[in-house]
Amino acid sequence: MNMCESDKLGLALSTYGASKVNILQEANIVILNTCSVRAQSEQKAFSFLGRAEEFKQDNPNTKIVVIGCMAERIGSKIKRRFKSVDLIVGSKDIDNAALKIADLCNLYDSSFNKIEDSQNIVRYVTIMRGCDNYCSYCVVPFVRGRETSLNALDILKESSLLVKNGVKEIMLLGQNVNSYRYKDFNFTSLVKNLATINGLERIRFMTNHPKDLSDELIEMMATESKVCSHIHLPMQSASNKILKAMNRKYSYEHYIDLVKKLRIAVPDISITTDIIVGFPGETKEDFEETFKAVKEIRFGGLYVFRYSPRPNTKAANMPDNVPLEEKKRRHRLILEESNKISIEIVASMVGSVQQVLAEKIENGVIEARTRGGRKVFVKGSSEKDLGRHLNVSIKEAKINSLFGNII
Ligand code: 5AD
Ligand code: SF4
Repeated sequence: MNMCESDKLGLALSTYGASKVNILQEANIVILNTCSVRAQSEQKAFSFLGRAEEFKQDNPNTKIVVIGCMAERIGSKIKRRFKSVDLIVGSKDIDNAALKIADLCNLYDSSFNKIEDSQNIVRYVTIMRGCDNYCSYCVVPFVRGRETSLNALDILKESSLLVKNGVKEIMLLGQNVNSYRYKDFNFTSLVKNLATINGLERIRFMTNHPKDLSDELIEMMATESKVCSHIHLPMQSASNKILKAMNRKYSYEHYIDLVKKLRIAVPDISITTDIIVGFPGETKEDFEETFKAVKEIRFGGLYVFRYSPRPNTKAANMPDNVPLEEKKRRHRLILEESNKISIEIVASMVGSVQQVLAEKIENGVIEARTRGGRKVFVKGSSEKDLGRHLNVSIKEAKINSLFGNII
């Protein structure tokens, strides 16, 4: 979501004649987009602000802007602590960020300067904002507000426009796309309508909450050829006691049921997940259940996080009683197991032929992605292959990427 919003803001600022630079030293405006989901992400932002503050001492004309969830949550505290910050724009106000930055920096709308929304092959499209699920550990409902679905016709229009500009794949974003609803559209019908856009090759989406992933949606994934064989389905834990305390509203049995259904409907599907270790009250036995599930389900990939209490959340009132060392141990065990499985999965792909979409080219090597979302570096291709589907024979595998030749 943050990457999407950063891209959009960059694009909006380009209409004011601004352009992106790659290093801090070249910037006149430094914009820090922040995340509040874990304590660690906030600490990272604080340390970046420290560096930006030092930079500003030597470059007093540089403007420093903080946007996103931290700006929403503790904007005034940031301003007090970092005197060099010129502007704060919270996540609920993100649509006005470009205007406010332009105002601050005396940029003028110069549409003639508009940098064409260029040759991006893959683009994010936000379809929902906010979240109403109130998982007990999660700060998102507090910083991003109520769940709202964006106008389906606007989404269709935006996507068509992107495709006209050369985009081949769109990634639909929402905290829980399953509950998308706009007038007569639900998520499935929205995707089916998007799939009719000529020239659009692939559709991805995230995230799907396991509590309300419908059979209709699974069926649509099986039949709609533009929809990729990947689903991000955060499990969080396999212990029913912990799932209940997390207010996730499903049981592990329900989760496993979904995994089975998905694998029957879409045999080559890659299921990825999020896991939290060290949630309040998570015993060694609870953790063992999660570890066992990771071993058995064999996720295509996973993110594992050490629990950290977040302000305003229900879990913040529960004793954070798993010691840090133990959280680290559980985190490490899940990561090691998941890496082992990933290596086995990619190794089993060596020798296969994969249909990939060519997204980027660098030094003559194409960067592409399989339908399941794995990165493939392709030799023997050229600029003209960008945006095309290629059949690639996989020759080599590393943990997070595959290497192959065009056939
Ligand atoms: N502590 C640790 N991980 C968290 N996540 C969300 N809130 C917390 C927290 N307080 C993780 C969840 C979620 C992902 C985006 O971040 O696994 O799915
Ligand atoms: Fe947070 Fe739960 Fe909403 Fe996801 S579904 S954003 S974890 S409250």
